[in-house]
Amino acid sequence: MNLRPIGIFDSGVGGLTVLRAIRARLPSESLVYLGDTARVPYGNKSPATIARYATEDSQFLLAQGVKMIVIACNTASALAAPILREKFPDTPILGMIGPGSRAAVAATRNTRIGVIATAATIGSGAYEQRLRDTFAAQHRSPAAISSVACPLFVPLAEEGETNSDIARLAAAKYLLPLRNSGIDTLVLGCTHYPLLRNVIAETMGPDVTLVDSAEAAASETAALLASQNLLAPPDTSPSDSFFVTDAAARFSTIAAAILGNPPASLELVSLGAA
Ligand code: DGL
Repeated sequence: MNLRPIGIFDSGVGGLTVLRAIRARLPSESLVYLGDTARVPYGNKSPATIARYATEDSQFLLAQGVKMIVIACNTASALAAPILREKFPDTPILGMIGPGSRAAVAATRNTRIGVIATAATIGSGAYEQRLRDTFAAQHRSPAAISSVACPLFVPLAEEGETNSDIARLAAAKYLLPLRNSGIDTLVLGCTHYPLLRNVIAETMGPDVTLVDSAEAAASETAALLASQNLLAPPDTSPSDSFFVTDAAARFSTIAAAILGNPPASLELVSLGAA
């Protein structure tokens, strides 16, 4: 049993979809969320910059006394998870790539899997590699993986354009080639994409299973804490703290839309040279 909080970081507000999934799965756990809103987006930055930001985000969470780190940002997971595990070997660190890939391999029936994410995540090849490795470990034949970067989805989700004509146009541009490729499973490999789930589902059609990396990561967070005897006692009343590096008022407004309530405790902090 362990009462210390779970640390979650993201480049900004999108990781709240992961926090929301963890809150629903683990109601007794206290959560510390860091949104690096001064330096968002990470999805179009270089690997070296993303690794530096992710290191500073992790150092901040560790200074808050967290018992594990969840890298809610898929871009940081793709580019920096191995680096963070090497730098902070005493802390369990969970990224989005493993949970999303395992859930997708479990879901596919025709061995054709698609993944959509930011340009940096797709460029890293991390999902593609993990999906191939996970599939190969369970089957004899290789899986067919199709990856597409969807750079307009993040700004659309942040502007609340989640169910509009403009969102449908962007979805058609990015997703119709994927739909035509015959995939039966699509990984939502970015924090913001669960917010566009309706439009994505509508565009992909009813035969394609959407895998939400946030949901998959929440289940694996619970399993990891249980396996290391780090869960909080079941009757604990949790307390959540939120930290951002800029634009706290905007964060609070979007957080209220995602979580149902604005954060009760929100503090502005500085990291690195931000
Ligand atoms: N959090 C990022 C991700 O999941 C999306 C936003 C960004 O580009 O920073 O990849």
